[in-house]
Amino acid sequence: MINLAIVGCGRVTRIAHLDALAKLADRYRISAVCDINPEALAATVEKTGAKGYGDYESLLANEQPDLLVLNVANGLHAPLAHQAIEAGLKAIAIEKPLAMSLKEADRLIEAADRAGAKLFTILQNRYNPPVRRLKAAIDAGRMGRLLSVQMNLFWHRERSYYEGALSWHADAKMAGGVMTNQAVHYLDLLLYLSGQRPLEAYAQVGHRFKLAVEDYGAGVIAFDRGLIAAFNLSNHAPGFDREGSMTLIGEKAMVKIGGKALNRIDLWAFEASLPEDETALEPSKEPPTVYGYGHFDFYRAVADCLQNGQCAEAISGREGRRSVALLSALRASILTHKPQPVVHLD
Ligand SMILES: NC(=O)c1ccc[n+]([C@@H]2O[C@H](COP(=O)([O-])OP(=O)(O)OC[C@H]3O[C@@H](n4cnc5c(N)ncnc54)[C@H](O)[C@@H]3O)[C@@H](O)[C@H]2O)c1
Repeated sequence: MINLAIVGCGRVTRIAHLDALAKLADRYRISAVCDINPEALAATVEKTGAKGYGDYESLLANEQPDLLVLNVANGLHAPLAHQAIEAGLKAIAIEKPLAMSLKEADRLIEAADRAGAKLFTILQNRYNPPVRRLKAAIDAGRMGRLLSVQMNLFWHRERSYYEGALSWHADAKMAGGVMTNQAVHYLDLLLYLSGQRPLEAYAQVGHRFKLAVEDYGAGVIAFDRGLIAAFNLSNHAPGFDREGSMTLIGEKAMVKIGGKALNRIDLWAFEASLPEDETALEPSKEPPTVYGYGHFDFYRAVADCLQNGQCAEAISGREGRRSVALLSALRASILTHKPQPVVHLD
């Protein structure tokens, strides 16, 4: 059994983590949960039966979980992970993005390496069945060299998403805007799927709600082997989350993965088709929220890593750092109004 502690009992814990962990009750035991908000803490204690802590320092002083999970505001990921490493914990899973800057990500990875601690980044869309299928086709060379990728994220976030207990969403240092906080999944997948190295990135963003964080924007990323990727992001799709998609054109195929968060194959066209392609467009299960179903696969992969030493499927801190590097170039381009080189990807 892996003894696990969760820090932050908010939305992602409630909607995605607890369900995933309930399905993996033969591998994980939630021994402790922590939140500074007493109601959120009490609800999670009641649901899990775990010991509740109202402050992080007491949790670190009293518990030695095999895995600590950080589900707090993005700007708290690195500081809280450093504290866990200093307290001697050996495995820490961090919700996306790994950190808010490349410097912060590098310091964290160095500290974990020095202490012999494992870092994992929760970028669960990598496990979506259509994404896995596409990755296998790309790795088998079936798409040829990738030339074009278009990513669209058209989701719905009302003003209330940026207010009250959720006001950290409006804080550039705590959350970042739609590019950092929502599109990080898509930027990660662009790097993961393409296998190409980004050279230069450019973005423009807008602030419809007049907050410190952007709520819509677009950008272009050029890669070393000819791929040119473009993205269009908005938190202003009317009513509900409408589209999270990637369309890819290679020398030998065109594929579109869509739905609201990359859980459906909309187009699967290969110059040389195989019998298995016939099932690609079969209806898939659209998840209730854009969080999808991937947290289960994430936890399963981490259990395989911690219990059996099979870590290939568990997304490491170093993997999480890649999208942070791309985001840092994109942010620099927004400030300078010029394309910026993507440096230090690995
Ligand atoms: N992978 C995904 O698809 C996905 C989806 C949503 C959110 N997230 C990530 O999950 C993290 C949490 O997001 P959320 O939507 O659950 O936010 P939230 O605001 O709903 O929950 C965060 C919780 O952390 C608590 N908290 C704040 N400071 C704390 C501290 N020092 N110690 C203990 N608890 C503290 C808050 O009281 C709150 O209950 C963020 O990093 C976010 O980017 C990931």
